[in-house]
Amino acid sequence: MPTPCRCLIAVAGLAAAVLAAAAPLKIDLPKESAPSYKPGPNLPLVNARCLVCHSADYAAMQPPNWPRKTWEAEVVKMKKVYGAPIADDEIATLADYFAKTYGNETAATAKP
Ligand code: HEC
Repeated sequence: MPTPCRCLIAVAGLAAAVLAAAAPLKIDLPKESAPSYKPGPNLPLVNARCLVCHSADYAAMQPPNWPRKTWEAEVVKMKKVYGAPIADDEIATLADYFAKTYGNETAATAKP
């Protein structure tokens, strides 16, 4: 028999190759080390505004003696410098959360 037979084999081979290439890719992303911020006031808002670009690790890495003003400046920096989607009237609420959870107003550091 002439060529048609070989041609079919080639088509079958090509189909197999295409199917193999279409197999779902398995991608292993590194585990998020801090997928949520610590429990605290208005946590859902904090997670919604502050997990868009990076994990909570950055907050956890800041000095625990940061006062409210510093956290507020940090929130403003995220908004103004990096374009975080934060409304002006949310800034104080977010600063309050960070002062009380990662800053110097935590139960451990707050003065009576
Ligand atoms: C639009 C993206 C975006 C959002 C949303 C965002 N950040 Fe950031 N953040 C960044 C970038 C970019 C950096 C700098 C990363 C670097 O230098 O490697 C950063 C760094 C930080 C740092 C490390 C210190 C510093 O100033 O570089 C802290 C703390 C931080 N962010 C807190 C927050 C908090 C709190 C929120 C929510 C109010 C927030 N981020 C929301 C983009 C964002």
